Amino acid sequence: MTERTLVLIKPDGVQRLLVGRILARFEERGLRMVGLKLASVDREFAERHYAVHRERPFFEGLVTFITSSPVVALVLEGPNAIAVVRAMVGATRPHEAAPGTIRGDLALDTGQNLVHASDGPETADFELGLWFAPGELFDYPRDADRWILGPER
Ligand code: RTP
Ligand code: MG
Repeated sequence: MTERTLVLIKPDGVQRLLVGRILARFEERGLRMVGLKLASVDREFAERHYAVHRERPFFEGLVTFITSSPVVALVLEGPNAIAVVRAMVGATRPHEAAPGTIRGDLALDTGQNLVHASDGPETADFELGLWFAPGELFDYPRDADRWILGPER
């Protein structure tokens, strides 16, 4: 099933000069980039993005962190994109993230775990709408798709 998912390269990824390396992982996997931008978010926007965590003890720190520097926001599309990207990102706490995942290879701190990824279809719908206007998302074929997605695609 073709899905779209929202990924953020968080402030630590931008500050640690890892944007290109992280984008390359998703690109190499074959996921199609349908939206991409650098964005600086204010508190109110960050609180909306992380609204499900409002009552959690780490909420204030999370909002402060995500507003501390620009982030890269991207929308990726592909078969089972939500689960594929979550698996590539790895467990929330980097010491539990498997080697080969972004967090398992590049992060150590739960509060600075480099990437965000939508965790389900409803979340993805909500987050895509929050971060991207319809005109900022692009539908386009790629010549390589038949080699990545199969001859029927
Ligand atoms: P994300 O939403 O950023 O993709 O991360 P996630 O799904 O893997 O984790 P989630 O449970 O949604 O938590 C959101 C972010 O809050 C920070 N966090 N800190 N100190 C803590 O116990 C704690 N727990 C979560 C992490 O930065 C996590 O990515
Ligand atoms: Mg989450």
